[in-house]
Amino acid sequence: MIKRLLITGAAGRLGSHLRGSLRPHAQTLRLSDIAPMAPAVAGEEVVPCELSDKLAVDRLVQGCQAIVHMGGIPNEQPFEKILDANIRGVMHIYEGARRHGVERVVFASSNHVVGFHRQGDLLETNCERRPDGHYGLSKSFGEDVARFYFDRYGIQSACLRIGSATHEPVDRRMLHTWLSYRDLSELVRCCLFAPSLGYTVAYGVSDNRDPWWSNAGARHLGFEPRDSAEAFRSERERVPALDPADPARIYQGGGFVKNGPFENDF
Ligand SMILES: NC(=O)c1ccc[n+]([C@@H]2O[C@H](COP(=O)([O-])OP(=O)(O)OC[C@H]3O[C@@H](n4cnc5c(N)ncnc54)[C@H](O)[C@@H]3O)[C@@H](O)[C@H]2O)c1
Repeated sequence: MIKRLLITGAAGRLGSHLRGSLRPHAQTLRLSDIAPMAPAVAGEEVVPCELSDKLAVDRLVQGCQAIVHMGGIPNEQPFEKILDANIRGVMHIYEGARRHGVERVVFASSNHVVGFHRQGDLLETNCERRPDGHYGLSKSFGEDVARFYFDRYGIQSACLRIGSATHEPVDRRMLHTWLSYRDLSELVRCCLFAPSLGYTVAYGVSDNRDPWWSNAGARHLGFEPRDSAEAFRSERERVPALDPADPARIYQGGGFVKNGPFENDF
């Protein structure tokens, strides 16, 4: 049982799911976001906070033993937006963790840190990172921040390269990348309670056929996915496949590899 567990991005898709599934594992859940959240029930604290505000994040982190950092922009956006929410945000979370003695952080990284590897290649957790945009770059930076705060300050971290966490896979790519909500909850639970976490990179993916990612390097987490995209295959394969020359079909990052640049950046 964790005394006080902070979940950032608690109003979001994954954060609001984890709010329910992590409830039995913490005496108090501290829930934070900039978007409106459901009111606190017994054993919860709702603390709105902007991740780019260093002092506010410092106050947010104080008193927590562990952090599940889901907050931030989850897709490709102009650099300045990503800079504030994801890059400054992750730095502020770890700096708060250092100042207040937080023992463990579970960081929502993304498959988009390796998005320019080719579809069909099987990546290990220690493969070269090949981010596919501003968003992937910000998550890659977050993984480096996690590594640095472990090497220098001993804060243990799991960087979860989440695939596609949705109720069900909605396209052909997700037959490879899908992570069910049930498997997400179990993966995060494993990261919070693994006897020794150190600095761990793991792929957030269910037990899908023809995987692109191997979690052999993260076996110590004890994570055993229970779901698979297979049940959705026939329906998803009814939609015609993309042109073989389309970068979204060549690279693991799918459509992200061709998003932007954004005209309003200048
Ligand atoms: N859903 C997926 O398939 C997937 C895949 C890979 C990685 N991820 C990562 O997992 C995390 C959760 O994803 P999600 O799908 O729930 O996204 P989401 O957009 O539903 O949730 C993210 C939350 O972060 C909050 N947020 C954004 N900017 C903020 C800021 N500056 N300050 C405070 N809060 C801010 C948003 O209000 C939102 O509620 C994200 O970090 C995302 O990058 C998700």
